[in-house]
Amino acid sequence: MHDYAEFVQKYPAYDRTHDLDELRERDYARLDRLGQIYLDYTGGGLYAESQVRAHQKVLAENVFGNPHSTNPTSQAATHLIESTRQSILEFFNADPAEYTVIFSLNASGALKLVGESYPFQPGSHYLLTFDNHNSVNGIREYAHAKGAEVTYVPVALPDMRVDTESLATSLEIGTAGKNNLFAYPAQSNFSAVLHPLEWIERAHALGWDVLLDAAAFAPTNPLDLSKYKADFVPLSFYKIFGYPTGIGALLARREVLKKLHRPWFAGGTITVASVQGDKYYLAEAPAAFEDGTLDYLNIPAVEIGLKHIRSIGLETIHERVGCWRVWRKCATARECRWHASMDRSIPPNAAARSRPISLTRTASRSTIASSRQRPTRPPSPCGPAASATPGRARSPWAFRESNWQPASPVPATISA
Ligand SMILES: Cc1ncc(COP(=O)(O)O)c(C=O)c1O
Repeated sequence: MHDYAEFVQKYPAYDRTHDLDELRERDYARLDRLGQIYLDYTGGGLYAESQVRAHQKVLAENVFGNPHSTNPTSQAATHLIESTRQSILEFFNADPAEYTVIFSLNASGALKLVGESYPFQPGSHYLLTFDNHNSVNGIREYAHAKGAEVTYVPVALPDMRVDTESLATSLEIGTAGKNNLFAYPAQSNFSAVLHPLEWIERAHALGWDVLLDAAAFAPTNPLDLSKYKADFVPLSFYKIFGYPTGIGALLARREVLKKLHRPWFAGGTITVASVQGDKYYLAEAPAAFEDGTLDYLNIPAVEIGLKHIRSIGLETIHERVGCWRVWRKCATARECRWHASMDRSIPPNAAARSRPISLTRTASRSTIASSRQRPTRPPSPCGPAASATPGRARSPWAFRESNWQPASPVPATISA
């Protein structure tokens, strides 16, 4: 398969996402200017230039003070922080009466909040799948320290999915009357597998609290928290829209959040602390979980980023990523042979434009970054472009099958 026409014939859904190509030219012009093809969607999304301009405008046209006060500048910051919280809830279709948004540094920060505060106890369980991010694995240290049992649910080769029976058996181990936490990634950063969101209710029915790690999932998949009511959902916003870095969130179900006990207190998390009486009174959530001063100048950029993604449509992003994912999977078997022939046929300027590239651990990363013409000469994970990026060699886990379903049928194989 050597040209774009053939590619779209085989992947008709791709053509329905062509708005992304115009957007790329308009709002991500630096990619072409710098000759970049960027595929690292889960590692970190790319910001649109309009996001940065919109944020700069907010900063240039307002005066913001530390939100821990009541003066007009503080109120202005508080107003934008609260409106950002609201927009996050809306993005994930979460009812504010049921969920709250706790700002953190990143998904790992959100996970640490759960780990350090979850009431593990002797007899309680921390259950997690093999394919979690290390920041989810790390919670086991808190579980161990409090005497809880830690159990892993294996994933099975070759496609690295969890065996349904072994999950059912594992979910039976939760001790009634104790605090049991089940953690899994909605999309594994390790294998790119999308695990069923239906597990949440299955686990709830057996008394588990559920931590759904959505850090790798959220950039390319809609998550509807009115339907899939996970108790804790950690996120990093730079993964969804690239800018700002340094802000994540824990979306938490208020009812289960009440169970958490923070191991310390800090400025902003309490209403009163007595110096002599060794007492303190925690503030209400989310303030009780946000240590010190929030990143109040950058948080408004999260709302801008969410608005940007909404304007594109997460469905469109999902669709394009799905095409790439299936195409890559189909191509993997013959890609070395194909790229060997393509390397002989591409014009020199096209070759220059395709370097350097970033290839990382999963296949679910190319959306806005892929131009309409790219399929004629996609980044080769086995060719010279990939090896031109030091330290980012193609992982053996890349391009594995997921349960993504294309909106229209795609062939299981494509001919070279
Ligand atoms: C599934 C998953 N969880 C958690 C994280 C941690 O995110 P961060 O490094 O932003 O804290 C990542 C980052 O790649 C991830 O992919």
